[in-house]
Amino acid sequence: MPLELHHTGTQVIATERLILRPYRTGDGNAMYKNWASDPEVTRFLSWKTHQSPAESEDIIRTWIETYASEETYHWGIEYGGELIGDIAVVLANWKHGYFEIGYSLGRAFWSRGIMSEAVGAVVRHMFKTVGYHRAVIRHDAKNPASGRVAEKCGFTREGVAREQYLARDGSFRDLVCWGLLDREI
Ligand SMILES: CC(C)(COP(=O)(O)OP(=O)(O)OC[C@H]1O[C@@H](n2cnc3c(N)ncnc32)[C@H](O)[C@@H]1OP(=O)(O)O)[C@@H](O)C(=O)NCCC(=O)NCCS
Repeated sequence: MPLELHHTGTQVIATERLILRPYRTGDGNAMYKNWASDPEVTRFLSWKTHQSPAESEDIIRTWIETYASEETYHWGIEYGGELIGDIAVVLANWKHGYFEIGYSLGRAFWSRGIMSEAVGAVVRHMFKTVGYHRAVIRHDAKNPASGRVAEKCGFTREGVAREQYLARDGSFRDLVCWGLLDREI
């Protein structure tokens, strides 16, 4: 029997310290300033460091267009009224009921538990409201901070996919895979 999903699209989610919200026109400046212009943030990401606020605004424009689909889950992370990071469902499989989360955060805000708080809220929404069965986080083996986020959110480290992706520098990288089931939260 197929899984029954109740898609909501990207709705505002409030947590103790954060507001996860849809992107808006004009967010490009904050995105550029707080995370997209920093090579340390983009080091393990699939996209290159942005060169201008206009570049950030352009990508945000394309993200806003994706909100037309109620199956889009892509939030900006607001903290103290400022846009400081990004969290999204980057891959979803309705047939088998799993989704994968990707995230990035301004360096000035690292190691304060912010991304763990955001991931926890997204996972709860996708399990309890939308109805997915399994959440996945995958990260470069050389990026342990991302694995620590998964661990703190209750994910189980399921293994390493060897040389699973081709990084921007042309090297094949190992991906660490973490999984969390709906009954485990
Ligand atoms: C990964 C990232 C999102 C984490 O965000 P964050 O808000 O700092 O995460 P949290 O504070 O919730 O948790 C991070 C944990 O990793 C730990 N950590 C940080 N650097 C680490 C390192 N080099 N090795 C091991 N653990 C590390 C922190 O101490 C913290 O654990 P603790 O709470 O037990 O002390 C952030 O570092 C980031 O945006 N990195 C760049 C983008 C990126 O790599 N995204 C993930 C792609 S898969």
